[in-house]
Amino acid sequence: MKLANKVALITGAGSGQGAAAAKLFAAEGALVTAVDINEAAANETAKQINAQGGIAFAMRIDVASEQDAEKMVAATIDRYGQLDILYNNAGIEGEPNYLSNFSIAGFDRVIGVNLRSVFLSMKFALPQMIKQRGGSVINIASVGGVNAQKGGAAYCTAKAGVIMITKVAALEYARYNIRVNCICPGFIQTPMMERIAAMSGIKDPKVLERGNAIGRAGTPEEIAKVGLFLAGDDASFASGASFLIDGGLML
Ligand code: NAI
Repeated sequence: MKLANKVALITGAGSGQGAAAAKLFAAEGALVTAVDINEAAANETAKQINAQGGIAFAMRIDVASEQDAEKMVAATIDRYGQLDILYNNAGIEGEPNYLSNFSIAGFDRVIGVNLRSVFLSMKFALPQMIKQRGGSVINIASVGGVNAQKGGAAYCTAKAGVIMITKVAALEYARYNIRVNCICPGFIQTPMMERIAAMSGIKDPKVLERGNAIGRAGTPEEIAKVGLFLAGDDASFASGASFLIDGGLML
């Protein structure tokens, strides 16, 4: 097992990529804290992990909230005594509007959930990792953080920020044996991708997949496997990097 005796805190664990990562990490021996703003969904992920013989507990957390970010880190350390892996995955797509029509509240919320959250959770988790002299942080950015997309004034900007804050944190904390990396997924089959297709007036989400060299969308499990690599010792020399896992979309 690749994550035996490791403790992993996973945000957005109630759906899509977060749920897949929580289940894979638990199957690889990690003790998991599954947090999500959707409490029932987080509970379901934890229930499934425990039913499979893994160990997990769930919390309702809004990752954009300072109090909640502090609470999820404290609860994890309280329950398991350590924190080895922070998987910042929670995110929202926001509204599809062009910049001049984008609502100010909508902009703030996307920045809050997709970027401020990553700052907050690292701010609260890093002191514990420093104490332990090691840890792995994985931030889920997006191809949208590398290339501009119409309607992406908030989303693309937040995800570009995730890529940069990953580099800053990697540089600042490498001396404590803490690695910080991010994954930039392309189209992944999750409820978010279905919502994006619907917002764009696309009836069949498969239309989105045709732009990929590989010719299909990825699965949440395919991203979780990259997360597993980054979380564990196999990635001992990887830090500050962005892993573009997009089926060739950016080619
Ligand atoms: P999803 O919508 O299936 O899952 C996101 C989860 O985050 C949901 O369970 C949701 O309740 C939770 N969440 C939303 N706001 C939250 C908050 N304030 N606090 C805590 N939890 C919150 O979406 P998916 O696809 O699994 O997304 C995961 C990450 O991957 C996101 O950061 C997304 O931006 C990113 N991504 C997704 C792509 C895709 O094609 N699906 C492509 C590139 C990046």
